[in-house]
Amino acid sequence: MCGIAGYLGYRKAYPIVINGLQRLEYRGYDSAGIVLMNDNKLTLHKTKGKVSDLKELVGQENIEANLALGHTRWATHGIPNDINSHPHVSNSGNLVIVHNGIIENYNTLKKELLARGYSFKSDTDTEVLINLIEEIKTKNNCKLEKAVQLALTNIFGAYAIAVFDISNPDEIVVARLGSPIAIGIGDNNSEFFVASDASPFIEYTKDAVYLDDEELAIIKIGEDIRVHKIKDNSIVEPNIQELQLNLEQIEKGGYDHFMLKEIHEQPNAILDTYRGRLLPEKGIIKMGSVDNNIAKFLNANRIIIVACGTSWHAGLVAEYLFEDLARIPVEVEYASEFRYRNPIINKGDIIIAISQSGETADTLAAIKLAKSQGAFVFGVCNVVGSSIARETDTGAYTHAGPEIGVASTKAFTTQITVLTLMALKLGNLKGEISNSQFHNYIQEMSLIPSKVEETLKVNNIVEEIAAIYKDAPNCLYLGRGYNFPVALEGALKLKEISYIHAEGYPAAEMKHGPIALIDESMPVVVIATKKGHYDKVVSNIQEIKSRKGKIIAVVTEGDTIVKDLADHIIEIPETLEAFTPLLATIPLQLLSYHIAVMRNCNVDQPRNLAKSVTVE
Ligand code: F6R
Repeated sequence: MCGIAGYLGYRKAYPIVINGLQRLEYRGYDSAGIVLMNDNKLTLHKTKGKVSDLKELVGQENIEANLALGHTRWATHGIPNDINSHPHVSNSGNLVIVHNGIIENYNTLKKELLARGYSFKSDTDTEVLINLIEEIKTKNNCKLEKAVQLALTNIFGAYAIAVFDISNPDEIVVARLGSPIAIGIGDNNSEFFVASDASPFIEYTKDAVYLDDEELAIIKIGEDIRVHKIKDNSIVEPNIQELQLNLEQIEKGGYDHFMLKEIHEQPNAILDTYRGRLLPEKGIIKMGSVDNNIAKFLNANRIIIVACGTSWHAGLVAEYLFEDLARIPVEVEYASEFRYRNPIINKGDIIIAISQSGETADTLAAIKLAKSQGAFVFGVCNVVGSSIARETDTGAYTHAGPEIGVASTKAFTTQITVLTLMALKLGNLKGEISNSQFHNYIQEMSLIPSKVEETLKVNNIVEEIAAIYKDAPNCLYLGRGYNFPVALEGALKLKEISYIHAEGYPAAEMKHGPIALIDESMPVVVIATKKGHYDKVVSNIQEIKSRKGKIIAVVTEGDTIVKDLADHIIEIPETLEAFTPLLATIPLQLLSYHIAVMRNCNVDQPRNLAKSVTVE
């Protein structure tokens, strides 16, 4: 939600910040803005629309500046328009801010400031914050850093902010609570970068500080970065990390869209995720964070999985995995419900939080709640150093690499990979899976990347099917067992990027309601692989056929029965039932991708969505 990019140093700030915003556009893209400081003069450009619209608006005039702050917005307070776009400037015109997050008590603060003579141009909570900072600064005649610190002790909510004072243009004050912010540091403190993630500055520096919650940093040309706790202003030693990210990872690499690139990266992403963990030659699965807490896992009474969206679907797959392979009872909860419903967490329960971004506000809040009740919390995250990765007791990273397309693809399959490794390891240690079964699983897992590669060859067939159904107003997705979450995920992918209404159901549930929707105009995607309750799914297919529904079936290579019944078949390689989601998901990702492209939808930045949902 919202992307921040800023630069302070000796280079031209404009291209750095504009390119940075474009890299961060996955976070929000309904409006954008930039402020440039040159010769003590402030130039502000803001527009509804994308960063490309902002670029057009700015043109090539007056872009000289060594200090710039930019913002790409996902609207929370106030509609997306030019005025509500960031940056925002205080009443005096001296202070400038960009903000990602929500100030929950902004209304009260706004009324108080109005009563004291302040006025507001926008509907945003951010403009309230910058004026509060200004009021405190004027009243106390203090430095900007002190005013920011004091103002932040008066607000509730979440924020990542960057603020500067035009009378002091070699300094930016940065702060964070609940929304991520990274600071890149150039050689000898000659330049600094501020951004929601490190992607805007990876070609300039590998040294970065990720602020923790409730921290404030002062960056000033020629000086070491200073970090303080917001609460009491105490000094914190900044943790300067070396970035592992490279430029190639965040570029499209010849694909038309990030989503397509990321779909095709799955063989490697899965391999990278199990590399060093799955050791077929030794016949073991090594996972430090599980090994170090093995007693907790083996004695767990229950695993509660908390997540949102696609990650929640990965959690559902994990429910089948842990119950089937390790015989540990599992509950899968929407983090947004879990956090507010006074959940019962017993001794011996383990919480697993799953999140690609590691920044999802609801998941983070669910983790905090579980921890406050004494639970042991394990994280499955993709983004190294993210809030969830830090907040959990321990965890395992998926090594999917940056996922830029808003619709999650490789994050999903790598989450399943991590969870599969865990379930197999625990199942074997608990004696639920014999050594020879375990050996088979390990051997098969090591073939999954090549089977995913093989599955990707269905691309052309899927594209042909997409052309037939691209104008369908609705679509049903059905699956049973391990393939039920796959059906849910397939439906989510279609609706989020093509705006076609789609529902996923357990295949047998169809007759309890959705069957009423089926007629000759309704495409039904059925996952009917050999080992997933095949005969029962075949019966469900018969039921759809009798009502003239159009059947698109994902089947195991060589299938003959469904081939005779379905309108279209998509064949995927055979694998063990527990691993089917890793393959069956791929054609569904491709189907939604092609349909969205054919409908001229913005595949990588679907309307109303954002990659990292850092607000409730
Ligand atoms: C869908 C999608 C979202 C996310 C959800 C959780 O394609 O990407 O549903 O899965 O917002 O995000 P993370 O995994 O970052 O917590």
